Amino acid sequence: MKNKKAIIEKFGAFNEIKIIESPIPEPKTGEVLIRIEASTVSSTDITIRKGLYPLLKDNPPIVLGYDFVGIVENLGEGVTNLSIGDRVADICQIGGNAKYLCRKADELLSIPQTIEAIDVAPLILSGMTAYQIFKYAACVETGGTFLVHGGSGAVGNILLQLCRIHQVKTVSTTSTSKLQMVESLGAMAVDYSSENYFETLQKNTKEGFDATIDFSNQKSINHSFRLLKKRGRMILCGLLTTQKKMESKTFLNFLTFGLEFGRMMLKKALWNSFSSKKTIFFGIVDSKKDFPERYQNDLNELIELVISGKIKPYIYQVFNLDDISKAHQCLGNGKSAGHLVISMN
Ligand SMILES: NC(=O)c1ccc[n+]([C@@H]2O[C@H](COP(=O)([O-])OP(=O)(O)OC[C@H]3O[C@@H](n4cnc5c(N)ncnc54)[C@H](OP(=O)(O)O)[C@@H]3O)[C@@H](O)[C@H]2O)c1
Repeated sequence: MKNKKAIIEKFGAFNEIKIIESPIPEPKTGEVLIRIEASTVSSTDITIRKGLYPLLKDNPPIVLGYDFVGIVENLGEGVTNLSIGDRVADICQIGGNAKYLCRKADELLSIPQTIEAIDVAPLILSGMTAYQIFKYAACVETGGTFLVHGGSGAVGNILLQLCRIHQVKTVSTTSTSKLQMVESLGAMAVDYSSENYFETLQKNTKEGFDATIDFSNQKSINHSFRLLKKRGRMILCGLLTTQKKMESKTFLNFLTFGLEFGRMMLKKALWNSFSSKKTIFFGIVDSKKDFPERYQNDLNELIELVISGKIKPYIYQVFNLDDISKAHQCLGNGKSAGHLVISMN
């Protein structure tokens, strides 16, 4: 038996991704070997592939894959909290798009056997980002209003479904071909490719929104801030449109992306000092690192919502590992919606 993994030898476009075979890794002290059942390809993986992800310290060659769910196959020395056969998951930044992976045992999330791997994979990164943003950052009450930019995306589709469960009214932006999908998730859909779409948004909120999530670009963030009501909350978590324009890591692209990020954080600081509205940057990595028990409890709650049918992650397509570059291409050119899952079974 061999390991199989999706690697890049340099940052760049989707055609840099190669599938290679290697020996199955041995778990070191405190680690376990995991046979991966499923992982995903998300816009964060594209940011990593392009070399623009600020939290990534490693340089290529790297194995792609920000998340995974799988079964413990072997225990390294000193591991007492897990047994062979246990089901686990994690956000790992890199390494998830492979057949096998070794990870520290005490950082892993526990996953029940009562849910299909394909249904749980979308929850580990994207679903949990939506869940924790809804619960801890947006804090919108029943009957409130939420402007969800990108409601057709991996984070957005779960966020819209959470709002629906809690009877929060949603207005959501997406491109023309996905308006119907966003409406099917209970939102009033607005086409962001139409001219002056912010005027349309304005017309649909008399007093302003209670909360908004924006991960587009500076112009969009400025408009979204204006559309909030007094003491409303804006959640920032990325700069997707800025990233999309860049094909690969060059010194200029890395600098531009870094400066745009800094500009966004400066605005957040200024607005928080001079306005009653609150601007929050949400980071899922810090959330898990700082509050690991809370992460596990929230994931259990989210899994329960999926098992009970109250939330159904919108899975666009399930790919084999061999076809992962097709998944990157599909997401990168804006054809897909919701989640792209990589099945290892
Ligand atoms: N900070 C964190 O912890 C964290 C965690 C996860 C993700 N993220 C970030 O969150 C963002 C969304 O992630 P995702 O995985 O949901 O991405 P995704 O699946 O690619 O979805 C992006 C969504 O944004 C929409 N969109 C694109 N351009 C837009 C624009 N100009 N105005 C409004 N909507 C626009 C897309 O609509 P169309 O497809 O119709 O164009 C799509 O619905 C990314 O920037 C990602 O890096 C941050």
